[in-house]
Amino acid sequence: KPAFVVGSKSYTAVAINAAAKAGEWIKSRVGIYKQLDTKTSPQDLVTEVDKGAEVMIRKLIQTHFPDHDFLGEESVEPGAEASAKAVAGYADSEYLWIVDPIDGTTNFVHGNPYFCVSIALAVKGELMLGVIYDPMHDEMFVAEKGKGAYVHGNPMAVSKEAALSDSLMAVGYNPDRNFALPLNMKGITALATQTRSLRTMGSAALQLAYVAAGRLTGYYEVGLNAWDIAAGVLLVTESGGKVTDTQGGAFSLQTRHLAATNGLIHQELLQSLEASGATGL
Ligand code: IPD
Ligand code: CA
Ligand code: CA
Ligand code: CA
Repeated sequence: KPAFVVGSKSYTAVAINAAAKAGEWIKSRVGIYKQLDTKTSPQDLVTEVDKGAEVMIRKLIQTHFPDHDFLGEESVEPGAEASAKAVAGYADSEYLWIVDPIDGTTNFVHGNPYFCVSIALAVKGELMLGVIYDPMHDEMFVAEKGKGAYVHGNPMAVSKEAALSDSLMAVGYNPDRNFALPLNMKGITALATQTRSLRTMGSAALQLAYVAAGRLTGYYEVGLNAWDIAAGVLLVTESGGKVTDTQGGAFSLQTRHLAATNGLIHQELLQSLEASGATGL
């Protein structure tokens, strides 16, 4: 049992409980999921476990907060602007939960143990709570606005590398091969020789959690959606890091091209992305 299952009714407790319960179930389905479908392309995968986990999380949240709005990846029409459009539709929302039931579905499908549940709460458009649960490593990452970020109760801090050349950077291969992948490949090609090394774990949310925990210096990807990054963005900023779009613009829930770092290498990363034509902006 994850150590973090608690019973109180605070937003954080409800989110942690939902992430832990969904995560445990997802873990139990590794290798035995039944239905593999594709969404926008043959590389864009979804299983019945993605959909079931989202239903489970929605129920666990709405039992406590029936009036709150809920945006989950598997409840909207897929497409490049899916989350930006949905977020725009929730512009007047007071409490908006933003949920990715499985971030890293491709890993889940292949039995590669890097995927997570991502749950964020935005209050009047501002991120107030972020919870990411990695069930295979039983790691619960939690951030509350202004209160810091924790992994299993231990405070997190971003890493201290001050130059791109000393950095361990994460990048992503986006399933959108028309727009996002060519841009990400430009960034990857440039960063491959400018950094200490590159990683791609296949989960945007988990890579942000690792930046927050100081295990990665930074992370860059074009073509993300709010459910991939909302929780992770708060984890990074509450751990002392910096998050902007790929041109240094302020993060909003409609941001799709993301740069997240320990802060110290942020400018250098943005310069590299600009120089290689990899910003997507
Ligand atoms: C994907 C993962 C992946 C990223 C893709 C996302 P999903 O989310 O975060 O790392 O490269 O852009 O779509 O589909 O596994 O929830
Ligand atoms: Ca997906
Ligand atoms: Ca995702
Ligand atoms: Ca997902």
